[in-house]
Amino acid sequence: MKRIQDVAISGKRVFFRVDFNVPFDEYQNIADDTRIRAVLPTLKYALDHNAKLIIASHMGRPKGAVVPEFRLSPVAKRLGRLLEKEVKMATDCVGPQVKELISGMKPGDIVLLENLRFHPEEQKNNDVFAKELAALCDIYVNDAFAVSHRVNASVGAITKYVPLSVGGFLLQKELDYFEKAMADPQRPLVAIVGGAKVSSKLGALENMLKHVDKFIIGGAMANTFLKSMGYTLGKSKIEDDLVEVAASVMKKAADRGIKLYLPIDAVAASRFDPKAEVKKVPIQEIPPDWMVMDIGPATSLLYAEALYDAKTIIWNGPLGVFEMDAFSGGTIAMVRNVADSYALTIVGGGDTDVAVHKAGESDRITYISTGGGAFLALLEGKSLPGVAALDETDRK
Ligand code: 3PG
Repeated sequence: MKRIQDVAISGKRVFFRVDFNVPFDEYQNIADDTRIRAVLPTLKYALDHNAKLIIASHMGRPKGAVVPEFRLSPVAKRLGRLLEKEVKMATDCVGPQVKELISGMKPGDIVLLENLRFHPEEQKNNDVFAKELAALCDIYVNDAFAVSHRVNASVGAITKYVPLSVGGFLLQKELDYFEKAMADPQRPLVAIVGGAKVSSKLGALENMLKHVDKFIIGGAMANTFLKSMGYTLGKSKIEDDLVEVAASVMKKAADRGIKLYLPIDAVAASRFDPKAEVKKVPIQEIPPDWMVMDIGPATSLLYAEALYDAKTIIWNGPLGVFEMDAFSGGTIAMVRNVADSYALTIVGGGDTDVAVHKAGESDRITYISTGGGAFLALLEGKSLPGVAALDETDRK
């Protein structure tokens, strides 16, 4: 993959594919601008090198239609404030008005194109649409790690039609940290995997069995593992069809000498509700009508102990229903344990970043990925189509 620092961008029209798919609060304000801040080094570099900046992103899933709540104008405002520069908002991402706006750009100017997903062609990786985007620029920069697992026109097909395609600093950083954690880690390498479903993490679990020294499992997915060991867990969420799969993951781990940790106690609730009655119980004593909502205090201690000698920790997915305060204790404690460790610590996907911020520990984690699905795809051992497209243009 060629990198932005390897090519001359001065005076050039440079197209930055970024991921500004940021969350909004109930008042339509940006609730978290991490993804915008994450590409500032790339954009500032381009400004310092007198490029013309054409920035493009998707927002939400508008399904190919113009949906006002998914317009990028609030992002243009925030970006302008962060860069202390004017960011012109285009009315669309292709078409005559956009062409005219770009033809008038001078070095140092910034244009943010409207949501790429207002066109159904974007998610179809359509060549005609990709050519239209490509015609806007001289150089294409992918700095959108978080959408690089998607085969979309602005991530894939566009690279066939621009003279030069390179990776931005964020993309480089995400891939470098992942490489350090999984391909060439300092050992022991400990993986923490949480979240609701074994089914959504199965590919990652299977792939990580090839790399890790210890596995820590939490979240509702741990219930399916516990059931395979014969525990009854009241009305807890369990994927019955995956109980055997969970057993086979445990067997593979044992055969490979990988230590696999499961909860020994839980915070259980009388119903799935933040105001439910709550008690802390050993895992073999979940009352018949109750459900597991979080790992318990003894499990937190066990997991902290499992991290004591870790040199690398990679974490995806919360250990309980952490969006409800009553059941966030296990995840928050784990954030603190990870932050306290001497290991290289990498966190990403499945709201794990949200948990780190909620715990106020983002400064003590080595790297927090901006990717959700993209981070999971890497954990699954898949190559990212957006990165493969850059590599492909390199070969040509
Ligand atoms: C994300 O938020 O994970 C990325 O922006 C990708 O969004 P998508 O899942 O809608 O493709």
